[in-house]
Amino acid sequence: PAFFQVAIDGPASAGKSTIAKILASQLHFVYVDTGAMYRTVTVAAKKAGLSYEDEAGITALLPKITIEFKPGNPVQRVFLNGEEVTEAIRSTEVTNNVSLVSSYAAVRTDMVDKQRAMTESNPVIMDGRDIGTTVLPNAQVKIFLVASVDERAERRYKENKEKGMAVDLETLKKEIEERDYKDSHRAISPLTKAKDAIEVDTTGIGIDDVVAKIKTIIEEHQ
Ligand code: C5P
Repeated sequence: PAFFQVAIDGPASAGKSTIAKILASQLHFVYVDTGAMYRTVTVAAKKAGLSYEDEAGITALLPKITIEFKPGNPVQRVFLNGEEVTEAIRSTEVTNNVSLVSSYAAVRTDMVDKQRAMTESNPVIMDGRDIGTTVLPNAQVKIFLVASVDERAERRYKENKEKGMAVDLETLKKEIEERDYKDSHRAISPLTKAKDAIEVDTTGIGIDDVVAKIKTIIEEHQ
């Protein structure tokens, strides 16, 4: 690729977006949160009054959807057809239905096209489930980020608590496991480690150490 590409894949709540965001700002790469794009399609389905099961309806909706990212602090802001959905895409309802919506062929083709277009004029760090395997198969660096399900549930629990959302730890653990199962078992580009990806286990490791480790890997490939 003409511009440098870093692909970060892994299961839910492994820390992908936290790490990718920090690396992108340190290295001056564009950060692309592909999970936010699938979440935005899920919100669009709801706003259109469609059932999440309605693959034909959601497919027909795709040409009418524009997704934009704008810089924001502490999180990037996300817009659906010009309307801000930064918070809406993180609701429990969206989180628990996004795996179904993202399993549809037309949704995947459309998002992958949009994601590839974002790599044409800038170096990127892109995080998701199928970046190293499907979206950017020639990425110079591919990372597969993992952590134990207990630790991932605890991280999500803390995040939720800060937002004032009360969901117990066991429920979160079940939701994470279910989402990983669906994402790993769908027919099209399921979550899987690319052959040439480097696995980084973040269980018990602080954010700064993970960032430093991946930065070293990127520097070795530049
Ligand atoms: O990364 P995040 O947890 O926000 O992703 C939400 C969901 O979007 C995932 O559980 C998965 O169903 C879908 N997704 C995907 N492919 C990607 C990124 C996310 O199918 N590249």
